Amino acid sequence: MSLEEVKNYMNSIRRDFADRPLNEDSVKSNPFEQYAIWFEEAVNAQLLDPYAMNLSTADAKGKPSSRIVYLRDIIDEGIVFYTNYNSQKGKNLQDNPAASALIFWSELERQVRFEGRVEKVSAEISDKYFAARPKESKIGAWASHQSDVLSDRMQLEEQVKFFTEKFKDSEEVPRPEFWGGYRLIPTRVEFWQGRPSRLHDRIIYLKKENDWEIVRVNP
Ligand SMILES: Cc1cc2nc3c(=O)[nH]c(=O)nc-3n(C[C@H](O)[C@H](O)[C@H](O)COP(=O)(O)O)c2cc1C
Repeated sequence: MSLEEVKNYMNSIRRDFADRPLNEDSVKSNPFEQYAIWFEEAVNAQLLDPYAMNLSTADAKGKPSSRIVYLRDIIDEGIVFYTNYNSQKGKNLQDNPAASALIFWSELERQVRFEGRVEKVSAEISDKYFAARPKESKIGAWASHQSDVLSDRMQLEEQVKFFTEKFKDSEEVPRPEFWGGYRLIPTRVEFWQGRPSRLHDRIIYLKKENDWEIVRVNP
């Protein structure tokens, strides 16, 4: 397709959504329990990467950026992902802990949206997760100065070679201190279910002291 054809296609394509309601009366009172129900349905639907989410951060001036990360854990009402603390997202979060995460389960016509602030998980939690990764991934974490400019692919491969050699006789590859987990602690969680004629269901959980208030908003 030419770019012109792509533009025409994007502009003309339409689809309707199935009629699978989401009700404020039947959702769980806690958004993480509701997430668990939907997550199980995503797994049962055999979606590829049901734990992939878009993470949006912003720098100190509010300039936003987004990327996919894996949601790996839920700890104390926070969703956990792992990354390089010196990456672009890491630098953003250092300057501005506000973040938003979005999961899109296309085949189920659902999205889940988390908004809140991010903090690092403890070194113990990061160590435990890191230790469970395959050795190649551990070496990859050492080798990649995530988000920094590379002169070429070879430079990265040289780094991998260097750390493979360095840890060749090690049973345990230690976790680099620049790599670990973050926890996004949401104060707002939205569950969106596609419905016919764009009259979608949007159920929002708002954090109030120790409780969650549930509201419905317009589609
Ligand atoms: C399916 C998928 C899963 C990913 N999971 C992670 C992840 O868990 N952690 C991570 O740091 N990057 C992950 N990435 C790569 C990020 O999208 C991104 O390229 C990288 O983290 C650098 O982002 P930054 O420069 O904005 O910091 C994943 C990418 C895809 C497509």
